[in-house]
Amino acid sequence: MKTKEKECIMKKALLSLLTSLLVLSCIGCGAKKTQPETPAPAVTEASTAETTEEETPAPAEVIEPEAEAPQEEKVLPPAPDAYLKELFAEHNMKVGTCLTTQMIDNPTTSRLILDQFNSITMENSMKPDYIFNKQKSMETGDLVVEFNNDMIKMLDWAKANDMAVRGHTLVWHSQTPDWIFYEGFDTKNAFVSRDVMLKRMESYIKQMFEKLEEAGYADMFYAYDVVNEAWMEDGSMRESNWRTIIGDDYLWDAFYYANKYAPENIHLFYNDYNEQFKADTLVKFVNTLVDEDGNYLIDGIGLQAHLYTEDDLNGYFRAVEKLASTGLIVELTELDVSLGAWQKTLKGTDDNLRVQGKYFYDLVKGLFERADDGTIQMDALTFWGFADHMSWRKNASPLLYYKDLTPKYSFYGAMQMPEYAY
Ligand code: GLA
Repeated sequence: MKTKEKECIMKKALLSLLTSLLVLSCIGCGAKKTQPETPAPAVTEASTAETTEEETPAPAEVIEPEAEAPQEEKVLPPAPDAYLKELFAEHNMKVGTCLTTQMIDNPTTSRLILDQFNSITMENSMKPDYIFNKQKSMETGDLVVEFNNDMIKMLDWAKANDMAVRGHTLVWHSQTPDWIFYEGFDTKNAFVSRDVMLKRMESYIKQMFEKLEEAGYADMFYAYDVVNEAWMEDGSMRESNWRTIIGDDYLWDAFYYANKYAPENIHLFYNDYNEQFKADTLVKFVNTLVDEDGNYLIDGIGLQAHLYTEDDLNGYFRAVEKLASTGLIVELTELDVSLGAWQKTLKGTDDNLRVQGKYFYDLVKGLFERADDGTIQMDALTFWGFADHMSWRKNASPLLYYKDLTPKYSFYGAMQMPEYAY
């Protein structure tokens, strides 16, 4: 072979060798590429439930491994026919939620409220902080009540949708403007005298009920918290400007005026928290709220029921029965059940949420039983909201729905559907 021919053959062989190597290495790459990657953990209900709302991680992309069986998802079966208001009606009770304008502006939450509840309590807008006009009070020398836009919006919505309303609240140590207690409605001055403060209290309570009637709202109200949170767990009276100025009888005076001005259809309530530790104190107290003929100036006791899943439920029922033994109506007015215990709340793991589901089931069942057999006179139960992320205790997941508004075990617990609740 000529040298040139040899060179040519060798070049061809080299080229073909290189080509084969290239093809082989490409096949290698391809093979590597088609191998399944380690899958990211699937985000199931149980795994998101491990953390509280704020800590919920962004959902990881789920890549299903071909060879493995799909993970079992703990997704609750939808129960479209479960409506709290229908269930509670079977026990002659209304069922409510606290309300904000944001909830009614959002069509999804507003629909949910209309489907599930038939009573509302304003979360804030009827509290003393929001219902006085300082300028007009200074000008007229009287404490002037003025309805705010949010309150009017919610009352109009309630009226248009046939909702019953709990009024919350008139006399309270908290969320009350300081200036109402001072001479000339000015905190630079001294506190007014007892007599002046009594006049202001009477005028305030009178205006509130009169204005509700004038505006055509009064008929919707079935209950009103005349006084909120006046007692301590040790049986002493809580400090408040009302008490400092008027004296310990400010509580009796508040009920006296409410009784004088409230329309007949509105039951007058004393409302408090930690009721399970205050039952004896509260029984003694309500027995002082009588007129000269011995008739009650009060109609009901509101049990806020800000509970924890580790709270003793039998002890709670004993307190409810003791309060009901006064013959007054009892209502749960702000029910939520945080996971864990006070200052030791737990995360929303699947296990903890099931414990909560069972707690709601047992609580509502016990209340229904006692109401049905006449042990307690209970005409309404109000949840302090419905979805965890909107709750004042959102870190302890205390309510009935997840952020995406799917029902939690607790919803099915309250619904008395144990098969879904725990
Ligand atoms: C108390 C009040 C309610 C509300 C809650 C916190 O229970 O009665 O109005 O302020 O605290 O949301």
